[in-house]
Amino acid sequence: MAGGFAVSKSGADIREFKGKITWYVWICGIIAATSGLMFGYDIGISGGVTAMDDFLLLFFPSVYARKHRAKENNYCKFDDQRLQLFTSSLYLAALVASFAASRACTRFGRKRTMQAASVFFLGGTALCAFATNLAMLIVGRVCLGVGVGFGNQAAPLFLSEIAPAHIRGALNILFQLNVTIGILLASIVNYFASRVHPLGWRYALGGAAVPAAALFLGSLVITETPTSLVERGRDDAGRRTLEKIRGTADVDAEFEEIRAACDLARALSEEEKPYRRLMRPESRPPLVIAVAMQVFQQFTGINAIMFYAPVLFQTMGLGTDSSLLSAVVTGGVNVVSTVVSIILVDKVGRRKLLLEACVQMLVAQTAVGGIMLVHVRADNEPSRSWAVAIVVLICVYVSSFAWSWGPLGWLIPSETFPLETRTAGFSFAVSSNMLFTFLIAQAFLSMMCSMHAFIFFFFAVWIVAMATFVLALLPETKGVPIDEMVDRVWRRHWFWKRCFANADEARVNDNC
Ligand code: BGC
Repeated sequence: MAGGFAVSKSGADIREFKGKITWYVWICGIIAATSGLMFGYDIGISGGVTAMDDFLLLFFPSVYARKHRAKENNYCKFDDQRLQLFTSSLYLAALVASFAASRACTRFGRKRTMQAASVFFLGGTALCAFATNLAMLIVGRVCLGVGVGFGNQAAPLFLSEIAPAHIRGALNILFQLNVTIGILLASIVNYFASRVHPLGWRYALGGAAVPAAALFLGSLVITETPTSLVERGRDDAGRRTLEKIRGTADVDAEFEEIRAACDLARALSEEEKPYRRLMRPESRPPLVIAVAMQVFQQFTGINAIMFYAPVLFQTMGLGTDSSLLSAVVTGGVNVVSTVVSIILVDKVGRRKLLLEACVQMLVAQTAVGGIMLVHVRADNEPSRSWAVAIVVLICVYVSSFAWSWGPLGWLIPSETFPLETRTAGFSFAVSSNMLFTFLIAQAFLSMMCSMHAFIFFFFAVWIVAMATFVLALLPETKGVPIDEMVDRVWRRHWFWKRCFANADEARVNDNC
């Protein structure tokens, strides 16, 4: 059915081209998704390492002393700006790097950008694993951050561009699935590494070399995407690549569509640069939603758990071992629930998943806050059964995040921008994510120290705000072809339609 239309189960039109899902596409997809594995490993490893005594003794002796002082306030044991900087520096670097990465993706292609990411990953891993002082450690984290900025911009784009249209959603969530697997692997490594003294933390940080090397070697063999080749004027190579990844020479229709999209994007960008175009009222709906999804994703409080779960569990009175083991359990729940999302996202839709998760997260956060308020005071430790109850509630919370705000935080911004602003708009999503990840990483331990159990109520209030946002301003995009968002979604939305001119109006309404 070259260039024809098929009707999906959801009843929406999905454009289909000739060609099959080849092994080559899967191999390239799996290799590119390794970048998510790296991101996840970096997220998961820092919490465990900062809970290891050998690491604290070497780089943060004052935190080590406070942790072991019997009378220390439970909520403040780990409050140290430099300790938080160890975690957060990575995201600050990624934030800055994502703008450069968006340009690199356009100029040098997705493949080269991923290769650059893997080189930064390898360099950063070596610096961290062999660090002899704090400066070396932080420079290593910054290098890893640049890798994350490059990888998170290039890999999702790469996946979307090589995927046949009808499996684009699933391939996109493959990236998030890898993020969760990376987090889980990191917590397993932390669990075992914490038993190896005094070098365990070096093995934990050095373990990142495995996914980094896999991405580096893999990125030597994967293809460049046809879109990126055509975008850079290499039409013949683009066509040959498309034939290879679709396993057929009959790719005329898809190739013409790629060429037309690139021509249009080129013409529009000569008229007005994509970043300027993003400031127009018509770009406001996807832009506001992309940024809001990232702010809300981070203010669910997920990274308080992902970064600091072992530290948090120790605060609740679990020993180092049980704390690390509990982090493995929450990591496992995260992976399994992401698979649930892959299965459900195109059936029940985005809005229902997001709203259901808001309710589940609200209940879990409020219950954790309540238990901590009553049972974890500054100077006592709760009974083991309360600590276990908190671990269970955190699993309830993590599962709902993993089938909603986790993957959809990346999916929705990738499917709501029109082509001419897609990469520029997506880089806003990546950088906002990194900015708010940085803020949570830098502030959480201090917030916990000053707010005590109320930190969980703080996140609960945000959850109410995000549910209201979804109800009022987030339209359903399930099954809507990516290039029909403007007509079928934005122009019909009760609020966002104000950003567009009516048929009988010459000028765009600027009151949205
Ligand atoms: C978020 C990360 C988070 C991870 C947890 C991702 O979607 O961007 O900040 O740590 O999900 O699985």
